[in-house]
Amino acid sequence: MGLWRLADWQYSSQQTLALLEQLLERGVTTFDLADIYGDYRCEQLFGDVLKLSPSLREKMEIVSKCGIKLMGSGNDYGLNHYDSGAVHVMAAAESSLRKMGVDQLDLLLIHRPDPLMDADELAGALDRLVDEGKVRAVGVSNFLPHQVELLRSRLQAPLVVNQIEVSLLHSVPMFDGQLDHCQKDHIIPMAWSPFAGGELFNGSDEAALRVQACMEGLSKELDMSPQQLALAWLLKHPSSMVPVLGSGKIERLSSGIAALEKELPREAWFRLLRAARGRDVD
Ligand SMILES: NC(=O)c1ccc[n+]([C@@H]2O[C@H](COP(=O)([O-])OP(=O)(O)OC[C@H]3O[C@@H](n4cnc5c(N)ncnc54)[C@H](OP(=O)(O)O)[C@@H]3O)[C@@H](O)[C@H]2O)c1
Repeated sequence: MGLWRLADWQYSSQQTLALLEQLLERGVTTFDLADIYGDYRCEQLFGDVLKLSPSLREKMEIVSKCGIKLMGSGNDYGLNHYDSGAVHVMAAAESSLRKMGVDQLDLLLIHRPDPLMDADELAGALDRLVDEGKVRAVGVSNFLPHQVELLRSRLQAPLVVNQIEVSLLHSVPMFDGQLDHCQKDHIIPMAWSPFAGGELFNGSDEAALRVQACMEGLSKELDMSPQQLALAWLLKHPSSMVPVLGSGKIERLSSGIAALEKELPREAWFRLLRAARGRDVD
């Protein structure tokens, strides 16, 4: 479950608590955040909810990210930029712990590849966070395979996740080596924006309209909701992909979670791919 949009939902802490509890009941136990989400406010909002019900912490895995410096309230950055230096990464991880009121992050990701990344320095900082018990595991986000390999070559800790954009409307990682690389080395791909930010259901460009028409037909044939089809399409990929859901509505989330119960037939998978790309395979 992704909490990028948490501040936009304008839920009270009680309402967010109810949402988290319903998700936990349905087996969704991993919550994805980043220091910058909601103009640096989402981690605090999430921490407020944990304070209401401290026993929730042990039922979930908390993921956060750092490495982007975003201009906004509370800082004096002159422009948006990246910082994968040890000082920033250590401070950002400490700040995430403080805002959420927890002792350890289950997973810390470097949010974007930084052209100035010094792999020795970053690996040293991440290993130190693991050694000190502040972070249980480390990974990256939006890294290309060669960037993953560079960091891995210096890390002592295993690099367990690459969080990348994958959906029916963004299938490139299935063809450009990103998901092959994950599958080869058992790096878990977390798929962000699995519904293409809602475009899959309400988008009006040609690809979105083709996919919507295809999903309408398949929904009837296979008795699966469009949300279920969109997630089953990702889950069929052999890289053990973990979609990061982004809706704030439990009905939509529940409908998607039901995808775990149904396997998408191979031909249906390729019908959706054909609709998304607007052409048959060669
Ligand atoms: N690592 C990165 O660089 C990165 C980048 C982006 C996101 N992420 C992570 O990925 C998570 C998911 O991203 P996302 O929020 O873009 O995911 P998403 O699930 O693709 O999109 C969620 C959006 O789609 C809308 N939506 C869902 N079902 C809909 C429907 N049937 N009709 C119309 N709209 C619908 C939702 O609105 P409602 O809330 O109204 O349902 C919400 O605004 C984020 O929370 C974040 O944790 C990571």
